[in-house]
Amino acid sequence: MKNILIINGSLRKNSFNQQLAQEAAKLLEHTSTITYLNIRELPFMNEDIEFPAPASIQKIRNEIKKADGLWIFTPEYNGQIPGVLKNALDWLSRGEIARDRSTSVIINKPVTISSAAGRSAGINARISLHQLLNNMSMNVIYSEGTGIVLDKEAFITGKLKLSEQDLIALSKQAETFYHHI
Ligand SMILES: Cc1cc2nc3c(=O)[nH]c(=O)nc-3n(C[C@H](O)[C@H](O)[C@H](O)COP(=O)(O)O)c2cc1C
Repeated sequence: MKNILIINGSLRKNSFNQQLAQEAAKLLEHTSTITYLNIRELPFMNEDIEFPAPASIQKIRNEIKKADGLWIFTPEYNGQIPGVLKNALDWLSRGEIARDRSTSVIINKPVTISSAAGRSAGINARISLHQLLNNMSMNVIYSEGTGIVLDKEAFITGKLKLSEQDLIALSKQAETFYHHI
C-alpha cells in the first residue's frame, strides 16, 4: 500500500474540490492509504515564529514525511491558487533547520495537481501551482493535471457531477501518479 496525502486549497464545507478529491480517492483506495491534510489551523507564515516551529506546522510536516505522494486539489481564486494553500506551501517549503532549505520536507516529494473551477477549469491556478511546486523543488507528476469545469447545475445543486470524460481524465491521472510514486 502506498500512502497518498490529499491537500485541498478550499476550506468550504461543501467544496467541489473536496468532492473531486473524494472521487480521486475512490480510484486509489484499493491500492493506497488515503489521508487528508488539515490546513485550517495554520498560522500565517511569519519568519519571527518559524523556530521552534508551531505545533500545527510540525504536525503537517510529519504527515508529509509519511506520504509517498501528495495530490493537491485547488479552486481558482482570481486566476490564482487560494491564499490558504499558498500559506501552507510557503511553510512547507522552509527547512526544519534554520537557514538550511535542504531540510524542507517537500524537496523531491512527488505531487500531482487537479482543480474544479468555473469555465477555465482552473487552468490559471494549475499553471501557477505547477510553477510554484517546481520552484519549491517538488517532483511534479502529470504537469498541470486535470481540470473539471463546474457548470450551472453544479452551482445550483452544490453537487459535483463528473462526466464520463472527466472520470477518464481523472483515472488516467490517478494511474500515472500511482506508478510514479
Ligand atoms: C475570491 C474568489 C475568487 C474566485 N475567482 C475565480 C476564478 O478566477 N475563476 C474561477 O473559475 N472561479 C473563481 N471563483 C469561483 C470558484 O471557482 C468557486 O467558488 C468554486 O466553487 C470554489 O471551489 P470549492 O467549491 O472547492 O470551494 C472564485 C471564488 C472566490 C471566493
